[in-house]
This record gives sequence, C-alpha cells and structure tokens, in this order.
Amino acid sequence: MSEPLKHSTPPVNRSHIKQHFSHAAPTYDEAAILQKTVAERVDERLALTTLDPRVIVDIGAGTGLLTEKVIQRYPQASVIAIDLSLAMLKHAEQRLKKRKFNWLPQSIWQNNGATLLNADAYALPLADNSVDLLVSNLMLQWCDDLDSVFAEFRRVLRPEGLIMFTTFGPDTLKELKQAWAITDGVDAHVNQFVDMHDIGDALIRNGFGQPVMDVEHFTLTYDKPMGVLKDLKAIGATNASLNRSKGLMGKQRFHNMLEAYETLRSEGKIPATYEVVHGHAWAAQEVIKGPARDRAGLVEISLDEFAKQTKQLK
Ligand SMILES: C[S@@+](CC[C@H](N)C(=O)[O-])C[C@H]1O[C@@H](n2cnc3c(N)ncnc32)[C@H](O)[C@@H]1O
Repeated sequence: MSEPLKHSTPPVNRSHIKQHFSHAAPTYDEAAILQKTVAERVDERLALTTLDPRVIVDIGAGTGLLTEKVIQRYPQASVIAIDLSLAMLKHAEQRLKKRKFNWLPQSIWQNNGATLLNADAYALPLADNSVDLLVSNLMLQWCDDLDSVFAEFRRVLRPEGLIMFTTFGPDTLKELKQAWAITDGVDAHVNQFVDMHDIGDALIRNGFGQPVMDVEHFTLTYDKPMGVLKDLKAIGATNASLNRSKGLMGKQRFHNMLEAYETLRSEGKIPATYEVVHGHAWAAQEVIKGPARDRAGLVEISLDEFAKQTKQLK
C-alpha cells in the first residue's frame, strides 16, 4: 500500500467551481483551444486500443468536446456525459444536437447515443460495475481528493474496465505563478496541481492496475499578460482553493503582477505553459507486477507499447 498523497491540492470550493463554469459556459468553446487539442490527443490514444465498450462515461464532460469524439468512435455504445454544471451540459446538448434529443424529467436527458447527467464526480448516480470505459478530459485538476474520486470511478467501472484521463501537472501556469511570486511573494492566486507520480499512486490505492502516465507540455503565447487571464476567465478556470487570498485584490498589486509577467516575455510573446498529464489504468482487483514497474507499480511506456498492451488485453 503506497503512502497517502504527499502533494495534494488545497481543498477546493465545489460551488465556486460550478458557478464559474456555469458563468463561462457561453464563452468556453471559443477559448478552449488547449482543451480541444487535448481531447483530440485522448481520442488518438483511444484509436490505438481495440476496445469495444458498451457503456462509456465522460466525467466533467463540459460542453462535450470529448463526448462527441467517443460517440463518433464507438457508435454502438451508450455514452453518458456527466458534469457539475448544468449550463455546460446545455452547451454539450447544442454540440450533440445533430442527434435527436428526447427530454426526460429534471436534469437528465438523452439522445440516440448520449445521456447528459448533471452530477458530481464524487457521487456518480451510476450502478456498481456498470461502465466499460471512463474518460475524463481536464476535469481532475478541479478535484482536491483524488482518492475519493478514483474510488468512485473504480466502483462504477467493471473489472478490467479502462479509465483514460488528462489533467494538469505542477508546471501548469508556471509563468503566472512566478509573476505573482515576484509581486507579493506567494503564488496562492493560482491553482495547485498534483504531480503525475502522486496521481499514479492514488490510482493504485483505489483498485486500479497498470497505471500508465506521461506528460506533454504546451506553451500558449499571447500579446499581453491580460490575454492569459482573459482566457482563463473565459473557460471558467479561476482559482477555486478555499485558502486563496480573500478580499479585493488591490488594483496596484494586480498591475504589479502584470508588470512582473511582462518581464517573462520571450521572443516577443507572453508565454503560458500547460503541463498536461495523460493517464490510463485498468480497473482490477490486483495490481499486476511487471519488469518496468517502479515500487509504486507505476510504469512509463511509449504509445506503441501502450497499443500492444491494450491489444493483448482485449
Ligand atoms: C476544463 S472543463 C473540461 C470540460 C471538457 N471535459 C472539455 O474537455 O472541454 C472542466 C469541467 O469539469 C467540470 N467539473 C469540475 N468539477 C467537477 C466535479 N466534481 N464533478 C463533475 N464535473 C466537474 C466543470 O464543471 C467543467 O465543465
């Protein structure tokens, strides 16, 4: 049994998350360039597998970027898109509109291939062992208790079901953190992100085997530091930590932070780094040990090896 998370994120306020994403729902798609790219990357990884899932769930589905891809990739499957924010799901409905929707009472509705469900990742309204494939694109960074979330994911996945997700790692928004650190000595205005090894450990603690993790760095560039903040606001990604500094942020401090960010300009542009953590693991009773595995049972392998592995298993 591995040690509890050493670098867990500070507790987050889920009503804050819900409120901010609901607010951002109308502007999300236009600003979510990175999220779209990463959803494509997840889909490329799914293309390497020979899965034939009957039930797929997309957790933190938002406006349905990844949901749409899995519906296309697995047209025979029942797809369930879950999100904390009903407003985000309403936009998912628009995206998936090509299909005919039948409205069901309350916050549940359905189309030919997808059921949209307004619910929390910590308490999924799904039966035990009912899901074959669980996907999640850039949602887990909003969860401060990975053990509880992974335990819930494990509960709904059938044994040998696959979880495939992305989240942000600690290098994410490092320039913004640095700008705040220069300004007032702390970077508490930016969300904290968990290291991929800690995520792998949490998977193992909660009944997943063969976790495979890797990271990919993206640097978005902007004309001005304000551009970074505007995009974060447009996608609802504001700091949700309960211990974020409260009260009005002084105009002068904010201005100082923008000036500090200016000093990080490189080749004429303002950089914003995102460390995207990709992970997948199989729901298993037992962790399968292998030669390339470290003590935590974590293994880092190439995409080719991943393709071979999933073909062998399915
Ligand atoms: C950055 S968006 C990603 C949306 C989508 N997966 C995509 O790729 O565009 C994160 C989403 O996770 C949702 N979310 C955050 N915490 C959640 C939770 N505890 N349960 C369900 N959804 C959650 C937010 O409402 C938001 O729609």
